[in-house]
Amino acid sequence: MVTSDLITNANTLVEPGRGLLAADESNPTIEKRLDSIGVENTPENRLAYRRILLTAPSIEEFLSGVILFDETIRQADASGTPLPEVLTRKGIIPGIKVDKGAKALAGHEGEKVTEGLDGLRERLEEYYKLGARFAKWRAVIAIGPGKPTAACLEANAHALARYAALCQEADIVPVVEPEVLIDGDHTIDQCRAVTAETWYHLFSQLHRQGVMLEGTVLKASMVIAGKACPQQASAEEVAEQTVSLAREYVPAALPGIVFLSGGQTPVQATENLNAMNQLGPQPWRLSFSYARALQEPVMQSWRGNSANAEAAQNALYHRAKLNSQAALGRYTSDMEKAA
Ligand code: 13P
Repeated sequence: MVTSDLITNANTLVEPGRGLLAADESNPTIEKRLDSIGVENTPENRLAYRRILLTAPSIEEFLSGVILFDETIRQADASGTPLPEVLTRKGIIPGIKVDKGAKALAGHEGEKVTEGLDGLRERLEEYYKLGARFAKWRAVIAIGPGKPTAACLEANAHALARYAALCQEADIVPVVEPEVLIDGDHTIDQCRAVTAETWYHLFSQLHRQGVMLEGTVLKASMVIAGKACPQQASAEEVAEQTVSLAREYVPAALPGIVFLSGGQTPVQATENLNAMNQLGPQPWRLSFSYARALQEPVMQSWRGNSANAEAAQNALYHRAKLNSQAALGRYTSDMEKAA
């Protein structure tokens, strides 16, 4: 384990004004996204789309890393350059999703535990050779009557910590993602209470497994009301709740927290991140690791037509720029117009 590389790379991922693009959708998930623009989920269409994302000019100004799916990390651009190398040449760190998805947690209806630890050491070794220097593992925590259970919180935190320890052994920065889901009619206060328990279990397990926090990044969900809750909070309230909770539960040794968008609109995700960064300096940097909030405008511009590739890349550049501004607390709504 080359500890200094872990720390350097973890800090690069959360460099001021840069964040992550999550482009690591599994095949069933990308199918949902492609369906929404009427494009068939074929290997050719997936490759065409991901080439658009990864070869977009100048995105390295705003993106420090891109999370890839197993299929993509093995693919190349039109000239034959492997896609991870396309990224490293631009100064973007290639990352890889290594979990095998959230599966039903036995005996706990409606709850899930993320699988993928078996064989992970060998897979990480291969991904390192393919260029990956950070990885992602996503756990999902649902809020509902009687949920989450301690069984769900503990099982997921344990798996995240085992994953993180294996990553660091392989000199790969673990991005640990316990996503508290936005689905449901829960209030922002209920989300805060569940997120507190989630982070408590996560950091206690990371400690138990000996994970070095200086070489780890937290991918967090924001403290936000459920989508079906009649009382939606303002960006200022989401920011205040999220940052104050993080100050209680997230150790200062961590270089940064990157947020997922989790079903927020692109503009909402940018506004919320901006409001957090307007609260002033924090012990960790606060940036983004969005999939839908960065990709939605790109997909809408592309719609499966190669003639739209340049417009789609411009849409990515624009959205990434706005989130970069939000990561610095300098975003304003009139920037939306300058497409
Ligand atoms: P969203 O931003 O669409 O929530 O995706 C982020 C992600 O990588 C979830 O694992």
